[in-house]
Amino acid sequence: MNQQHQDLIDRDRKVTFHASTHLRDFAHGDAPGRVITGGQGIHIVDKDGREFIDGFAGLYCVNIGYGRTEVAEAIYEQALKMSYYHTYVGHANEPQIALSEKILELAGPGMSKVYYGMSGSDANETQLKIVRYYNNVRGLPQKKKVISRMRGYHGSGIASGSLTGLKAFHDHFDLPIDTIRHTEAPFYYQRAAELEGMSEREFSKHCATKLEEMILAEGPDTVAAFIGEPVLGTGGIVPPPEGYWAEIQAVLARYDVLLIADEVVCGFGRIGSDFGSHFYGIKPDLITVAKGLTSAYQPLSGVIVGDRVWQVLEQGTGEYGPIGHGWTYSGHALGCAAGLANLAIIEREGLTRNAAETGAYLQQQMQAAFGDHPIVGNVRGVGMLAALEFAADPSRRGAFDPALKVGPRIAAAAMQENLIARAMPQGDILGFAPPLTTSREEVDEIVDRARRAVDAVLDELVREGAVKAVADTVA
Ligand SMILES: Cc1ncc(COP(=O)(O)O)c(C=O)c1O
Repeated sequence: MNQQHQDLIDRDRKVTFHASTHLRDFAHGDAPGRVITGGQGIHIVDKDGREFIDGFAGLYCVNIGYGRTEVAEAIYEQALKMSYYHTYVGHANEPQIALSEKILELAGPGMSKVYYGMSGSDANETQLKIVRYYNNVRGLPQKKKVISRMRGYHGSGIASGSLTGLKAFHDHFDLPIDTIRHTEAPFYYQRAAELEGMSEREFSKHCATKLEEMILAEGPDTVAAFIGEPVLGTGGIVPPPEGYWAEIQAVLARYDVLLIADEVVCGFGRIGSDFGSHFYGIKPDLITVAKGLTSAYQPLSGVIVGDRVWQVLEQGTGEYGPIGHGWTYSGHALGCAAGLANLAIIEREGLTRNAAETGAYLQQQMQAAFGDHPIVGNVRGVGMLAALEFAADPSRRGAFDPALKVGPRIAAAAMQENLIARAMPQGDILGFAPPLTTSREEVDEIVDRARRAVDAVLDELVREGAVKAVADTVA
């Protein structure tokens, strides 16, 4: 590492509280740091000039790839005209109006208005406030609970972190708050061994039955909403089992429970359709968007409110006056300018179609490289989302001892190959979510590097005696 890079990291250790970081180790120099200075296409560069393929598009958000001057220029032009004015009490700016129109056009029939935030977490906070208000206006003040799923990811605030169904986001923070419940994760691979002989369709029915049992146990008059990602993201990149969303929606309809689709990852092309909801036939009442809305060129999120809910919000303000909700930066002109430029690129370059087509190639190449690999139990994905789940005994879905940290070790080995792939929490899972611009040649490079990384860790595990040597394993 060059001296300049080292000096920057040393300064950083003294002053920054980093997200999802071992705080003590980082502050005391026992965990690595890295300063990122640039990016182009699917590559990023650090202060040493070392180039990586970003196989995770930042945090699955840089959908149009790095270095798009067109977006930078749109932000600059807007900043010269008007960087900011609030959007309270009916004030607006031009990019915000145009972006709302574009989002509603993409979302399709039944969607009425867009409320803006800065992050997926704050958008889900807004969702929870809307849900409470909705049922208060309808004269159902006890109908307030929200059901999320184990392994769901919806943010890391007090309420959005409660919706998240991952241990690390609850433990030591006294979460979840008491109006949030978690039902079965739609994770067929991990559950199939226990629920012996169940087909995917049967498992979807099982998930719906579990949801219904929970609604009945809580009392349907206390359950307001259900929230889910079309494809489980941070919880392991898990496409839903066959028939899942139809089964779930039938239960929700029976008990007057709103459906919130958290499209923060799936929205704007990632799985090869404008929204994950379109892909899976989900008819949400409310939609959360962020990430791909601006491809992270500016922080911007949104809540898309469907007609059914919007009518009640209007009725509420008719009765109680202006809504008591707002962020200073809601509808920020620079975020909206970035969003418009980003969505224009996605449309013009056909990136949603590329996510479907090159995404299908990605899935195929992952299967070819890892389908029979001695420590890969499951290869899964859809569009430009893919995951490998590692197993000590793939034929029996036998997981590794968590102490071996197989997932993080493989992610580290991938870094040695200058490939960024993400070790997902709660399991030995390596996730991929490259920019939607990724070409077939780049897919080949990602898969080759991933294969070398997995084989390197397999070698280590064999040497450590954690895995039996397999005659035809490593190339
Ligand atoms: C599905 C989903 N919802 C919400 C969030 C939270 O978004 P943010 O990190 O912008 O608060 C994320 C972040 O990864 C996400 O994946």
